[in-house]
Amino acid sequence: MLPISITKATALKEKPTDESKLGFGKIFTDHMFLMDYEEGRGWYDARIVPYANFSLDPATTVFHYGQAIFEGSKCYRRADGGLQLFRPQDNLARMTRSAKRMGMPALDEETALEGLKQLILIEKDWVPHQEGTSLYIRPTMIATDVMLGVHAARHYLFYIILDPVGSYYKDGLKPVGIYVEDEYVRAVRGGTGFTKCAGNYAASILAGAIAEEKGFSQVLWLDGVEQKYVEEVGSMNMMFAYGSKIVTPALNGSILPGITRQSVLTLARQLGYETVETRLAIDDIFADAKSGKLTEAFGTGTAAVISPVGSLCRKDETIVIGDGNIGPVAQKLYDTLTGIQYGRIPDENNWIVRLS
Ligand code: COI
Repeated sequence: MLPISITKATALKEKPTDESKLGFGKIFTDHMFLMDYEEGRGWYDARIVPYANFSLDPATTVFHYGQAIFEGSKCYRRADGGLQLFRPQDNLARMTRSAKRMGMPALDEETALEGLKQLILIEKDWVPHQEGTSLYIRPTMIATDVMLGVHAARHYLFYIILDPVGSYYKDGLKPVGIYVEDEYVRAVRGGTGFTKCAGNYAASILAGAIAEEKGFSQVLWLDGVEQKYVEEVGSMNMMFAYGSKIVTPALNGSILPGITRQSVLTLARQLGYETVETRLAIDDIFADAKSGKLTEAFGTGTAAVISPVGSLCRKDETIVIGDGNIGPVAQKLYDTLTGIQYGRIPDENNWIVRLS
């Protein structure tokens, strides 16, 4: 593990006073963690420094060819005031898998985890207290070579920034409406769908904007070949409940292998639900919603936690799922998952890393 130097900020920002208005992704703390990489030398100069702008040459490769990957994780405050992380090692391991696909170097996961822990302890007063709030963690890796040739870069920057957050969707646990996208696709076999690369999100923005104009929160992506099978919703994996059976698209290389997805499947099995990972045709979802066989739909993600989906719209047809409120399966999973994350329920799966 690399040594980590610490330079403290001389002036601190004002912390938000009204935690009910935090929203998502708008406020950043006083410090950040950085480390550099050079081919042949590896990762070096791990440091915690005051949060500040980067100065990058306009020819820096990340601006042109998009070698950029990120993660999302959270730090939670327990009722006793202590702090804890949820499966942070899994996020860092996934970043290394994303890096491999993008021709980027494996992360020094050990130094990154230690840097994250030290950073959070410095920023401990930024972790909000109110129910449903947390400190969102955004590890990011970008290519920093200055050149215009299309090659894997030789230099990279890894950094972690922190953001106190409330719920990702403005209405919290109120079910969201999702638009089924059947013109654009997010990912194809052999592509980058399973990675958390910036390009996947860039490719989703137009469809997301069109869906928002139509009054929907997000887009449900279908497979990139036949546009028949459910993949994911950019910011979350999708799950469908048929009574006590939970069905979700199987990981096929073009879906993000969500850490919340995997946690929810594990908890669901431990709670006695049947879980099925399979190929899911959108036509069947619509038919099952209409016949009443499909009882709930919800998304899972770090930012989204568990977000009920109340309606799906495809072309001109809208189906309503459930009664406009969160269903019992999503509610049970939400209570169990957040109970573990906030330290109210024992963590039998060894997912929690206690910081204080
Ligand atoms: C997360 O859930 O952490 C994400 O990265 C999804 C989204 C905010 C981009």
